[in-house]
This record gives sequence, C-alpha cells and structure tokens, in this order.
Amino acid sequence: ASIYSSASILGRLVSFLMNLHITPRTIWLTRHGQSVYNTRGLLGGDSPLSRAGIGYADALRCFVRARDPAVIWTSTLQRTIQTGRATGRGCLQIKALDEIDAGICDGMTYAQIADRFPSVADARAADKLRYRYPQGESYEDVIRRLDPVIMDLERSQEPVMVIAHQAVLRALYAYLVGQAREDCPHLSIPLHTVIELR
Ligand code: G3H
Repeated sequence: ASIYSSASILGRLVSFLMNLHITPRTIWLTRHGQSVYNTRGLLGGDSPLSRAGIGYADALRCFVRARDPAVIWTSTLQRTIQTGRATGRGCLQIKALDEIDAGICDGMTYAQIADRFPSVADARAADKLRYRYPQGESYEDVIRRLDPVIMDLERSQEPVMVIAHQAVLRALYAYLVGQAREDCPHLSIPLHTVIELR
C-alpha cells in the first residue's frame, strides 16, 4: 500500500510539474452573493441568495461580460450555482469547492456555538488551521481536498473565474499569492468583491 501511495504521489507531482507554465493569464476569485444564511449569521447550510446577493450576482454578469473568463467554476452549493447562473455563462460545478464542513455546528451562529459547544469555540480559536469540527473539517482538510483544483488551475492557460466560499477562497488565495499556511484561516475575503490575480 505504501509503494502504491508513493507512486501515486510521485505521479501527481510529475503531472503537476509538467503542467506548470508561464503563460500570462488572469484568475478571478469571488464568493457567492450574500445568502439567506449570511443575513442571519448562520454557518454552512445550502441556502439561496438574499435580495442583496441577487443584486451582486446581477452586477457580476456585467463584470463577466467585460472581462470574459474562458471558464467559470462554482461549488455544488446553490448559493454559488445561483451566482454563476446569473452571469449567463455555463459553469462547471466542483464538489471540492464546497464550503468548509462545520459538522455539528452547521446551521448555527458563532454565538450559539460558544454557548452550546464552548470547547469547540475555544479549541478552534486556539488553532483555527488544524482544528477539525466534530463530524466536519479543518482548514487543513480543505487545503488537502483543493489539491486537484489547484492542479487544474495551474494547468489552465485560460482565464478562470472561481465562485466559491470564504474558507475555500482563503486557501486558494493563500496558495496563489504565496501566503503562509498559518495565515490562511484569517485572510479577509469579503462578500461582493472580486479578487483579480494576474
Ligand atoms: O463557515 C463559514 C465561513 O465561511 C468560514 O469562516 O472559518 O472564519 O469561521 P471561519
């Protein structure tokens, strides 16, 4: 089993290196429009866009028309799909772009977590990068599952727009700009903002 896994790691590394290129292109990162859960301060879930979120998705349509990304990727959650659909372009749904899984805390506010699961709130505050929500994920888990997405981003010679979620975009942004892994969970990726990387 260990020979198999080292061979597969080596294979992935070779494929990664062979697909690196220096063709200039642009990558745009944006969170979905504000969701109904966002308006209530609730984590996770799969809620649709709020009125303000629909407004952002409409504005993104004009941005996409002007900048013309070759492809748009979304997660499989409806808030990113709805945002992508508003651009009028076909979007590729990628499960690995789904938001960090908050496990037993999904659907709760931070105040509710501190009240019902104080040990979760404390442990996460102490080590946000490595702390894994019970029945959920840590930032390190998210970074790991984004590996294939990063390989596809590196391979692509065309401009790509990624419509995803805060934790996922923190990880992608940190990788793309060479930010320290420890900083990743604390980066600011505001709603209703497009980050353009060249
Ligand atoms: O859980 C939803 C958030 O997008 C992630 O935020 O890791 O800062 O709690 P957080």
